[in-house]
Amino acid sequence: MQPLASMATRRGLLLVLVVALCEVSALGRTPLWDGNIMMPTGEGHKGEEGTRWAILIAGSAGYWNYRHQADVCHAYQILKRGGLKDENIIVFMHDDIAYHPENPYPGTIINKPDGPDVYQGVPKDYTGSDVTVSNLYAAILGDKSAIEGGTGKVVDSGPNDHIFIYYSDHGGPGVLGMPNPPNLYADDFVGILKKKAAAGTFKELVIYLEACESGSIFEGLLPEGLNIYVTTASNAVESSWGTYCPGMYPSPPSEYGTCLGDLYSVAWMEDTEKENLKKETLEDQYLIVKSRTSNHNTYRSGSHVMQYGDLKIDVEELERYLGFDPANENVTKPGLSELSPVNSDIVTHVPQREADLVHLKHKFYNAKKGSLREANAASELAKTILHRRHLDDSVRLIGELLFAGEDALQKLGAVRPAGSVVVDDWACLKNMVRIFEASCGPLTQYGMKHMRAFANICNAGINSSRMSLASLEVCKISTSVDLGIWSPVTSGFSA
Ligand SMILES: *[C@@H]1O[C@H](CO)[C@@H](O)[C@H](O)[C@H]1NC(C)=O
Ligand SMILES: *[C@@H]1O[C@H](CO)[C@@H](O)[C@H](O)[C@H]1NC(C)=O
Repeated sequence: MQPLASMATRRGLLLVLVVALCEVSALGRTPLWDGNIMMPTGEGHKGEEGTRWAILIAGSAGYWNYRHQADVCHAYQILKRGGLKDENIIVFMHDDIAYHPENPYPGTIINKPDGPDVYQGVPKDYTGSDVTVSNLYAAILGDKSAIEGGTGKVVDSGPNDHIFIYYSDHGGPGVLGMPNPPNLYADDFVGILKKKAAAGTFKELVIYLEACESGSIFEGLLPEGLNIYVTTASNAVESSWGTYCPGMYPSPPSEYGTCLGDLYSVAWMEDTEKENLKKETLEDQYLIVKSRTSNHNTYRSGSHVMQYGDLKIDVEELERYLGFDPANENVTKPGLSELSPVNSDIVTHVPQREADLVHLKHKFYNAKKGSLREANAASELAKTILHRRHLDDSVRLIGELLFAGEDALQKLGAVRPAGSVVVDDWACLKNMVRIFEASCGPLTQYGMKHMRAFANICNAGINSSRMSLASLEVCKISTSVDLGIWSPVTSGFSA
C-alpha cells in the first residue's frame, strides 16, 4: 500500500505522464459522413430452409472492456428480434459487467449512449471460467462430449443450416483474446472451421470479427470453397476501434466512464436494426460498415473492414443469418445513414489498446480529490502504463539480442505482403509466447500486439533454446510487473 502523503507528489508526476500519453496516442478525429449512397438490392430469398444458428463471443473481461460484452449482448437482442430461438443462439461472455461495482446501473448493459438495456434475457450459456477456446471449438463442431461446464449448448446443425459467428475483443497478429487462457490462435480456429465444413453440417457460415489485426486470423489461412464468408473490423496490420467513449463524441453519460461499443460492431448492428433484412445483402452491409468504420472511406481514423472466404456468398440477404424483424418490413433500400455533419476536430473513437487508459484516466480525473478512489485510479493507471513499457522494452531487447545488427528492429516488426500468413510454424509461435511468458510474465491483452515479433522470430528459424536464453537475459534485468507506483523506470516516459 502506498501512503497517501507520497501519493500527492506522485500525482504531479502522473499528470505529466498522462498528458504526454494523450498527445502520443493516435486518437482519431472524425467528421461524420453525409449523404446517401444507394446500394443494389438482392432478389428476395425464396423459401426458408434449415435452421439459423449463432455463436456470440466476447473475448474479454473487466469493466474497462465493457464494450465487448455490450456488443455481444446487443447482437443477441438483434438475433432474438430476428426470430432466432434461444436454443439456437450460444453466448460466450464472462458476465462480469452487469453487476460490476463500477456499473452505475446494476443489472443493465447499454451499447450506445442513452441506448436500451441489452442485457435482459441474454442466455448464460458459457460464463466466467467456462468461456474457453476449447468450449468454443466444441460448440462450433457440435461436440457436446467435449464441453466442460456451461449449459452444454452446441451448434447441432444439419446440411441446410446457416450459421453466424460474431466475436468482439482484443486481438493481435494471428491471435484473439479469451477471458481465460489460452488465447485463440488463427490456425486452430481455421482448422475447426475446415473440420465443420468437412462434416457437412452447414450450408453457409458467416463470421463477423472485431479485434485488432483481425484480418490476420484469415489471411493466407482461410481457403475458398468452404462456403464460409467473413468480414473483419481491420486488416492484418492495424488496430480496431472502440467508440462511444468518455470524452469523445458521442459520449456515454459520464457515470459510465468506459467505452460502450466498438466501431465496426456498432456499425453492423445499428445498420441491421434499421434495414429490411429480406432486402439487404451481406455485400450491402459490408459497404455500409466499411464506410462507417473508415471515416467515410477516408481512413483518417478507423480501420479497413475486410472480406475473406467465399465472397460470392455476399449477394445473399442478411435474413438468412440474422433473421427478419417485421418492424422494418417497409424499409426499401439499404443505404448509408444520414448523420448530421459535425466539427471534424471532434474525437469520436479510440484504438482498442488505448481504451483501458481512457477508462482509467476518466476514473482518475472524476474521483474526489484526495480520495482513496483517486489514489487507486492513479496507481492502476501507472501500473498499466509501466506494464506496457515492460512488455514493449522486453520484446524489443529480445529482438535486438536475437537479430543482432542494425536492422534488428526492422526484422522484428517486418510485415509480410498482404494475403500472407503471419507465421509458417504455428507450434513455434505458441512455444515462443510460452518461453517469453516464463521469463517475462504474462503477455496480457496489450501484449498481443507483439505477436508479429514472435512470428518473425519463428520465421527467421530461431530455435527455442536461443529464445529462452534471450528472454532470460532480458527479463532478469527488465523491471518486474508489480512495480508499485513510481520507480526509476518511469523516467523513460518523460522524454
Ligand atoms: C408496412 O406498410 C403496410 C402498408 O402500408 C402497413 O399496413 C404496415 O403496417 C406497415 N408495417 C410497418 C411495420 O410499419
Ligand atoms: C539453436 O540454434 C543455435 C544457433 O543457431 C545452435 O547453436 C543450437 O545448437 C541450436 N539448438 C538446438 C537445440 O537446436
